[in-house]
Amino acid sequence: MYNSKIIGLGYFVPDNVVTNDMLSEIMDTNDEWIQERTGIKERRHVIKGEDTTSTMGVKAARIAIERAGIDKDEIDFIVFATLSPDYYFPGPGVLVQRDMGIKTVGAIDIRNQCSGFVYGISLADQYIKSGMYKNVLVIGSELHSGGLDMTTRGRGVSVIFGDGAGAVVMTREEDNSKGILSTHLHSEGAHAEELSLIAPGMGKRWVLDILKDNDPDDESYFPYMNGQFVFKNAVVRFSEVIMEGLKANNLEPKDIDMLIPHQANLRISQFIQHKMRLRDDQVYNNIMKYGNTTAASIPIALTEAWEQGKIKEGDLVVLAAFGSGFTWGSAIIRW
Ligand code: ACO
Repeated sequence: MYNSKIIGLGYFVPDNVVTNDMLSEIMDTNDEWIQERTGIKERRHVIKGEDTTSTMGVKAARIAIERAGIDKDEIDFIVFATLSPDYYFPGPGVLVQRDMGIKTVGAIDIRNQCSGFVYGISLADQYIKSGMYKNVLVIGSELHSGGLDMTTRGRGVSVIFGDGAGAVVMTREEDNSKGILSTHLHSEGAHAEELSLIAPGMGKRWVLDILKDNDPDDESYFPYMNGQFVFKNAVVRFSEVIMEGLKANNLEPKDIDMLIPHQANLRISQFIQHKMRLRDDQVYNNIMKYGNTTAASIPIALTEAWEQGKIKEGDLVVLAAFGSGFTWGSAIIRW
């Protein structure tokens, strides 16, 4: 059995900066409320026509592959995590294979929202461990802005989310004390609808219903979030799954060199930091600049932290996520 390790990282965010003040011009919100509740100062929104979820993923992937020092033809498998695919089907994994001119390797799409990247890392890790694939490209990308309710009705959700993409290249590691040490995944479907986008689906609200009703007040194709309920679950599950990962490796919170929590809300990250008694330099946050970019948030933050020299060889890096599903997970990495 091999281990897997990350050998290349990249991210892409659109140039278009949307500040809290800009949002307050189109809906009843304000900078103070958004910063106080979430920590977000600004986020990026794609200008329509300039990018899609898959093209942002490709831009991040090109950087990751170049930094990995391999050729795109050495990629053996593509994993793409998103809740905002270009098309209802096919998923964006195949669009990456096409647009990057990668040979006809397998491409899989992950539907685990904010936990999507951690699930993706876990999947890639298993393929590499088993020896089935050597180099796996894992992408998390989201284009939220094209699907948010940008009126006062949607303010509880739309101020939080931003667009962007991050990617990593994972490869085989012969030394079992290095790389991805373990991953830990969970789900609790009892709360599926507490953070959801119901339509278009084949459950409660069919495409045919939407077309037939043609109802401008239909909110089923906008994301819904029971914010406080999600918040309460998030702080518990984040802590649990980080501790689970540490325990599995006989480690403690004090051993963490860098925790990269999914950027859902700065208050959630701060809560976990205090609960685990971590110093500021042990946790990386960038939600202030980008908002919640869902499946992209961890690879963007991981890449930024690495670029800033905050992650070095031998460091213990912990990734943790919680989101819609509910799903949650962690990855314990010896860099
Ligand atoms: N601007 C101004 N006021 C607002 C806004 C806004 N953008 N949004 C809501 N409000 C108002 C509400 O209408 C409400 O007013 P009322 O008291 O008069 O009814 C008041 O502010 C409080 O609203 P709450 O929703 O209770 O605010 P809360 O403090 O819970 O903060 C938030 C909301 C930021 C969404 C928080 O609950 C949160 O971060 N939840 C967790 C998010 C999360 O972790 N998501 C998981 C990942 S996302 C994914 O998986 C896709």
